[in-house]
Amino acid sequence: MAEPTTPSVMEKIVSLCKRRGFVYPASEIYGGLNGFWDYGPLGVLLKNNIRDWWWRNMVITPPIGPDGHPIDIVGLDSSIVQNPKTWVASGHVGGFSDPMVDDRETKQRYRADHLMVAAARVKRKSGNTDELGLFAVLSGDDASDVFVKKIDKLARKTGGGEVLPPEGFTPFTKLSAEQRQQVVGPDVSTPGTLTEPRDFNLMFQTYVGALQSEESKAYLRPETAQGIFLQYKNIIDTTRVKVPFGVAQIGKSFRNEVTPRNFIFRSREFEQMEMEWFCHPDEARKWYEFWKDERMKWWRSLGVSESNLRLRDHEADELSFYSKMTVDIEYRYPFTAPDFGELEGIAHRGEYDLSQHSKHSGQKLDYFDQDLQVKLKEQGVSPEEIKAKSRYVPNVIEPASGLTRAVLVVLCEAYRNDPNRQGTTEMLSIRPQFAPIKCGVFPLVQKEGMPEVAEKLYLDLRQHFTCEYDQKQAIGRRYARMDEIGTPFCVTIDGQTAQDQTVTIRERDSMAQERVALDKVTGYLVDKLGNPCG
Ligand code: GAP
Repeated sequence: MAEPTTPSVMEKIVSLCKRRGFVYPASEIYGGLNGFWDYGPLGVLLKNNIRDWWWRNMVITPPIGPDGHPIDIVGLDSSIVQNPKTWVASGHVGGFSDPMVDDRETKQRYRADHLMVAAARVKRKSGNTDELGLFAVLSGDDASDVFVKKIDKLARKTGGGEVLPPEGFTPFTKLSAEQRQQVVGPDVSTPGTLTEPRDFNLMFQTYVGALQSEESKAYLRPETAQGIFLQYKNIIDTTRVKVPFGVAQIGKSFRNEVTPRNFIFRSREFEQMEMEWFCHPDEARKWYEFWKDERMKWWRSLGVSESNLRLRDHEADELSFYSKMTVDIEYRYPFTAPDFGELEGIAHRGEYDLSQHSKHSGQKLDYFDQDLQVKLKEQGVSPEEIKAKSRYVPNVIEPASGLTRAVLVVLCEAYRNDPNRQGTTEMLSIRPQFAPIKCGVFPLVQKEGMPEVAEKLYLDLRQHFTCEYDQKQAIGRRYARMDEIGTPFCVTIDGQTAQDQTVTIRERDSMAQERVALDKVTGYLVDKLGNPCG
């Protein structure tokens, strides 16, 4: 019989998310659909709070620029389906693909660069070391364990012995074609069943209109960014923005990922928060550094701890086809720890996108910089040089993050499992400002006028922030449920309320309780919550 295994932190988080209504598998009653998730009643509140915080910090009150003056960022909500020429110009039709490998025996499909290969070696009782061949496992923090377990099974069938830990993994894509044919795939026991890697375009296709033909073929956007480039000219012509300025957008993107995994980390339908910052080419580096700092500050403001965040520059061979340089903001996810995984990319896209769209559409997408013209005139620069320098194609710095990935990070960061805690061992210590429910309001019992007082207080509090009224179950269980969903405050109306007009306010993390006058509760919580989202 298989030994029962203890659930990993990630499994516990996924289970809590389902049990408490944060995230459900999409179309679960039909067996689900790999890579698609639904955000439940609490998940949608949390997601909207993070979305609103990003929008507030990008569009409503963007950071002060490096010269000490306010900067301009405007918003956009563009279509998911655009003219398909968009994706030819952007390079996605030609180049937005992952290398994919099929297993001929099991019909499983893997991302070739996620298959990690190592030589299996077993030390026999005789003292000899046998080489059992090349074996592939999926990349991840448990790759070594999975590898050793698989080889151990095989070793037992062939006389036993001690499996030696792999001496280092090589990605399947880095092997020679001859070596690839000798690899045993992750779900089989014989070599040679894996195909050669083939490029697989990640864009979902659809048809526009009644006829399904090559001419009516269109794509679901794989990034929100391109919608911004397509409206760059309209925004310049119809609003008062001048270079440098930004355009921000939040919305759904779709990628037919070969191996969606790690819960909502890599899904096929997800939400992005992207901002394209248009600037003078000579200033692109300055703004790249500026946005690197600002974006790190933003993640910290969400309550993500410094030790779980890091910046990682892309190597030259990692850069996307459009990028001159890119840095990733990475997070130490439970499934990557002690390593880190991508959270946001900040890319220097140069003039790639505007030049490509200009070339493919025949429209001029350069910029005439009046302020620069005046400055150059004052400097006594020659008219020819002024003319040449004042018209240019802006460069773009792009901080691009995933909203749904941010939800995952906030949940991972907030998750606590404390066996000594009363009521529940599991809780979410979400920064109060972003918690889906800010306050639970409870009558201690359903009599003696307590429900009436509690309901009145609830109606008042919900004018200010999200609240939940609950009068069922023992008070300890109600507190425990609120801890599990990350509610920072609970207010309880009890027998003493009728006597002295005070209530108990309980704080989630410390579980400390204090008596506060009924008519001071709103002010007390408004003070504590500051400027809450939701
Ligand atoms: N416009 C540039 C761009 O889309 P990206 O690195 O491909 O760059 C930006 O995506 C962010 O979108 C990523 O850092 C990640 O947070 C999120 N993202 C990308 N693919 C995702 C997926 N399959 N599931 C969830 N989030 C994803």
